[in-house]
Parts: sequence; structure tokens; C-alpha cells
Amino acid sequence: MLVLGIETSCDETAAALVEDGERVRANVIGSQVEHHRPYGGVVPEIAARAHLDLMLPVLDRALVEGGCTYDDVDAVAVTVGPGLVGALLVGVAAAKSLSLAHGLPLIGVNHLEGHVCAAQLEYGPLEPPLIALIVSGGHTSIVLLDPSGRFSTLGATIDDAAGEAYDKIARFLGLPYPGGPEIDRLAAAGDPAAIAFPRAILRDGYDFSLSGLKTAVVRELRRREAAGLPLHPPDVAASFQEAIVDVQVHKTVAAAEAHDVGQVLIVGGVAANTRLRRRMADACADRGIRLLAPHPGLCTDNAAMIAAAGWNRLVAGERTALDVAVDPNLPLEGLALGGAAAARRRGDDPP
Ligand code: KG4
Ligand code: ZN
Repeated sequence: MLVLGIETSCDETAAALVEDGERVRANVIGSQVEHHRPYGGVVPEIAARAHLDLMLPVLDRALVEGGCTYDDVDAVAVTVGPGLVGALLVGVAAAKSLSLAHGLPLIGVNHLEGHVCAAQLEYGPLEPPLIALIVSGGHTSIVLLDPSGRFSTLGATIDDAAGEAYDKIARFLGLPYPGGPEIDRLAAAGDPAAIAFPRAILRDGYDFSLSGLKTAVVRELRRREAAGLPLHPPDVAASFQEAIVDVQVHKTVAAAEAHDVGQVLIVGGVAANTRLRRRMADACADRGIRLLAPHPGLCTDNAAMIAAAGWNRLVAGERTALDVAVDPNLPLEGLALGGAAAARRRGDDPP
């Protein structure tokens, strides 16, 4: 079955065609980075307008890349939340129109569930239980997908999202937006132990706090400038990155051990980070934990992951009403994975 996925929750206008929840036939992303770069971050109003301009061309390109027409499509899956309300509305309006015009079932997808389902595109059906570290420009959370395929959030950031912290520090270092990839690159030439930035471990839990680290970096940059001390940006980048990665690895592995889970998944734009991937791979290998780290292109926002999540729900018999509303704060808590996971739980053959 071929599912068309649509994703517009933040600043990527994306459409994808995925067969049976796993095989990507088209994965088109209309990036708006250039629109937001002058502002050093995503501007919601600009995002909504850019989605309007990009949505139809991106859909057309997906069909061309997939070598098919709407007649070949079996369902439309779309992100209904969480995200920027004006941005979400554009994708959902497009999905509803296509559903109505072509008589296709509509499947509403939670964006974070989508990030987790990105793993299907690389590793095949998800086999809960697993612990997912979801780290992006808008989200930083540790999620448990329990043996029955139900999501619960074990911890989240209490202030900045990981990507936001990367982007802000990059701006202080005079690097362009988005700053995460820039810091990643710069850090490769730096010493991660050059500056001892604080690690906010926040005892007894899986929550994150990044504002203290951000302040510490800014203070250090100002102190060095005022004292006329030399500044070696690669060292700052590497030391900052190491502080973030330390906490992410520590908490994710602790969550896996505490819940006796043998699989860890890292997704979201920040999961493209080279150092996080390396350190998480080492930590998991040491403990006999299987690490699922999808290709960076599947970690950042895309519509193939939404189509994959939608397929799970489609084969579980779920449909979303045409009057579904977007929800900028849509919770992940308690949501159950559909499809293959549900079938496996019942002891059926996976669909
Ligand atoms: O998932 P994503 O594409 O969009 C959101 O849902 O936010 O994540 C974008 C974020 C940006 O903050 C970007 O700086 C960060 O992911 N990012 C990275 C890397 N690549 C992207 N952060 C650290 N290292 C990277 N290699
Ligand atoms: Zn995202």
C-alpha cells in the first residue's frame, strides 16, 4: 500500500511516498532555511507563508519522483501536531483537500511519533520496547515505547530544546543558521576538554535543562573577550557540544537500563550530530544495547517518516475524520503505535 505523507509542522515543506510503511519511493523536502536565515531562527509567520508557496510544487515533485499519480495512492497521512499552528494548517488543509478530491482515507499523525517511525524506513518494523531520544529544534525528550507499543514521555527539556541551544551558540560564534551542523563541523577541529562547561544532570529524572549551559558559554566568550584572551572557536564548539552530548548519552542509557530495554533510537535533527552518534554508539555497545540511528536525512524533519507512521495506523484500521483540527501541543503520552506492532502483539502475522 502506498501512503502519501505530508509534513509542515515547522520550517520544512515536505511530501513523500512510502510503500508498506518502509520503502521510500519519493522523499521531497522544500527547505525554507534561506527564508529564516536572516532572523537566526524559524519565524512562524514566514514559515506559514512559505508553506503555502511550496506545498503544491513539493507535492507535484513527489509524484514525479515516485513515478505515480494520485490513482496509485492508497491514503494520505499528515502531521496534525505538535508544531507551529499556522504551519500545521497548511499541510492539513492540503491533506484534507486531497483526501476529499481523490476519495483517499486521511490519517492524522503526531510529529514525534513520526520521528520515531523514521526508524522503520531504515531498520524495518519497530519492535518495542525501545527508548527514543528525540532531539530537534523544537523538541528534546526521552520517550519509552513500551512492549505493548504505547508511548510515554520519561523526560523533556524544561527550557531550551537541544537544536535551539546549538543554534543560539552558533549565532554567538558568528556562524550561520541553522547552527547545529556548523558547530558539528567546527567541533571536529577542536578539543572537547578545552573548556569545562557545566552538565545539568538534574538528579533523579530524565528532564533536560540547557539554558544554564548556554549562559555559561556566552559568559565565557565575553570573559575572554574582555580579558583580551585568545578565543579558539573550534575549542568552544567542541566543549559545548561535549557538554550537551554527555548529558544526552547519560540520560538515554540510564533510561534504557532502568526500564530494562535493549534498544535505543536517536532521531530528530540533532540526532544528525556526529559526536552524539559516535558517543551513543560506544555507550550502547558497552552495554549490549542495540542502537538505531537512522541516516541523518531521515532524522531531520521529513514526510517519509509521517507516511511510515500513517501506514501503521492505516493497516490497524484507523481513519481520521475530515474535520480534524491541528493541535500545536498535541501530546504523545499514551498514544499507541498501530499496524505491525499491534499485529505482533496479538500474535498475528504482521500485515
Ligand atoms: O528535526 P529538525 O530538522 O527540525 C525540527 O523539528 O526542529 O531539527 C532542526 C535542528 C536545528 O536546530 C539544527 O541546528 C539541528 O537540528 N541540527 C543539528 C545538526 N544537524 C541539524 N544539531 C547538531 N548537530 C548537527 N549535525
Ligand atoms: Zn521534528
